[in-house]
Amino acid sequence: MNSVSSPFITRRKFLFAAASIAASVPIRPALALATGEHRIRVAPGQARLTGPDGPRTPVWAYDGTVPGPTLRLRQGRPARIIVENGLGEDTTVHWHGIRLPNAMDGVPGLTQPPIRPGENFVYEFTPPDAGTFWYHPHADSLVQLGRGLAGALIVEEAEPVAVDRELLWLLQDWRLTKDGQIAAGFGNMMDAAMSGRVGNVVTVNGAPPADLTVKAGERVRLRLANASLARIMALRFEVHRPVIVAIDGQPCDPHEPEGGRLVLAPAMRIDVVLDMQGDPGKRYAVIDEFYDGLAYSLTTLAYDAGAPLRDHPLDAPLRLPANPLPAPDLAKAERHEIVLQGATCRLTMRNETAWWHPMHVHGFSLSVLSRNGSPVPHRQWQDTVLLAPKDTIECAFVADNPGDWMLHCHVADHQMAGLMTVFRVT
Ligand code: C2O
Ligand code: CU
Ligand code: CU
Repeated sequence: MNSVSSPFITRRKFLFAAASIAASVPIRPALALATGEHRIRVAPGQARLTGPDGPRTPVWAYDGTVPGPTLRLRQGRPARIIVENGLGEDTTVHWHGIRLPNAMDGVPGLTQPPIRPGENFVYEFTPPDAGTFWYHPHADSLVQLGRGLAGALIVEEAEPVAVDRELLWLLQDWRLTKDGQIAAGFGNMMDAAMSGRVGNVVTVNGAPPADLTVKAGERVRLRLANASLARIMALRFEVHRPVIVAIDGQPCDPHEPEGGRLVLAPAMRIDVVLDMQGDPGKRYAVIDEFYDGLAYSLTTLAYDAGAPLRDHPLDAPLRLPANPLPAPDLAKAERHEIVLQGATCRLTMRNETAWWHPMHVHGFSLSVLSRNGSPVPHRQWQDTVLLAPKDTIECAFVADNPGDWMLHCHVADHQMAGLMTVFRVT
């Protein structure tokens, strides 16, 4: 069994405790809420995950929609979000990737008491970083996330970036029975010991993959978020050359992905800028080809037949404004090691298992230094770092935010099976 068991950081500042379906409905834009105060109700609901003619699936939902409403906050502006629990069990909301006060991190029993059925909890924080984040429960995570509880959280840059259009694809993976019910068997040994609960239906913003209508020449900022329990995705855009401008919400040097594929493990986000360089009237597939022999078309870019919006790609800079992340001083850093095998600031994570693990740190963004000894280019900051089997990753971060924080694998089965730990920053 994979586990991270022992305390691993001793720096002065640290104390350690402890198959998809094709359909022809358009991709729906995620519902958006305005800035300010938000109220979100968590309750059972229903969704049509296989299209308007498909069966209704009983789900658990934020404000009755799957995914939940897209929260739009402003960088550096206080936010207040009231969460009402209409479920029959405890819940919490975790604001994944946001650097916030520990008491707002949404981990029951660690940072707050659970929100009991019928009760409310008020989350208040000021997001320091602009970017693409998401929110999800941190109680009974495997079941609550698996039943649909997830939503995007977008923190807008103070100055908007120059694109023609912004799109969000919140990707979810479901294990459905033939009659469209969420399959039972959460947390079985097989899933926990292997890849986790990978499903058989993928949705984009809660709907089955469908055509996306685009215009030749337009520049789109596409925010991708993988809210799956366990499915890893590797997206390839036929003919197109997406440029990665942010990873896990944090701007990076604009670059094309290695091998042309955008790899998104559970909980990861990637922002790309996509210049629509295809021909008017043509169609180009977006293919998820992560699992050998199981490639499928996630969506199709369907070009409108009209004249291109412009002849040449937009001549505007791709780089996003930097976020106020504290830069680690590597000369003064101490080394710490996490080993993903019955044991466990410059942090080394070594995967000694035969499985992939998206390792997630709460409360901080990690500057990723190297993978298997080779420096990682493009100045990437990540809150979720995917470790392939046998990978070793070196990261660094400034431990400037006090509290007890979680570090865990975001494959929910692995987390439940013990691939998690808590670290204390004082
Ligand atoms: Cu996205 Cu501990 O979580
Ligand atoms: Cu998190
Ligand atoms: Cu894992």
